[in-house]
Amino acid sequence: MTEAVARLVAAVDAVLADPDGGDERARVDAMRPAMAALLADPDPIPAWAEEPYEGGAVGNLLHRDPDGRYHVLAVVFPEGTSSGVHFHGCWGLIGYLRGGDEETRYRAVREDGDHAELEEVSRHVWHQGDITALLPPEEGWHRVRNPGPGTGVSVHVLCMAPAEHPHRFWNRDDGRVLPFPFVEAAPNRWVATVEGLGPT
Ligand SMILES: [Fe+2]
Repeated sequence: MTEAVARLVAAVDAVLADPDGGDERARVDAMRPAMAALLADPDPIPAWAEEPYEGGAVGNLLHRDPDGRYHVLAVVFPEGTSSGVHFHGCWGLIGYLRGGDEETRYRAVREDGDHAELEEVSRHVWHQGDITALLPPEEGWHRVRNPGPGTGVSVHVLCMAPAEHPHRFWNRDDGRVLPFPFVEAAPNRWVATVEGLGPT
């Protein structure tokens, strides 16, 4: 962990511990200055955390809250890769550190058990220093894609422990919503993996 990550963690801990911190949106907003400071730091995250995993996208675990309330990932998207469309079931804060990740946001027009119909609501190319929030259910669906050039790296503060983070994948072809858990592929290297994407 770098000092910059340690300062972010201390700030998130303080926000979560504040009995007058307000609702989820207020608390996530209160974390933004600490994320901005990390993004502006000359030594923001360790070098290993900027590496893809076997050439593909990965979430490199920088911190796991001992109480299981949240974790911090450096999410790496090599040029030309995409997350697919997915849903975060609880709060998150994302700071863009390197590269030009394009984020598309969606809203659910209809959700019916394990099927959903989504429509695009926005599309942005983010640059170093930009910060966005995940606040489901309204602001939980998105897709991140790295059109290049270079590798995209963003820092995510996400609710709950990595293995418990509620994460679902939308299969565009048939509208199915499938589990998309983070799986630890190697120590501290977490890969989101779609479950049940077999023939229909
Ligand atoms: Fe995401």
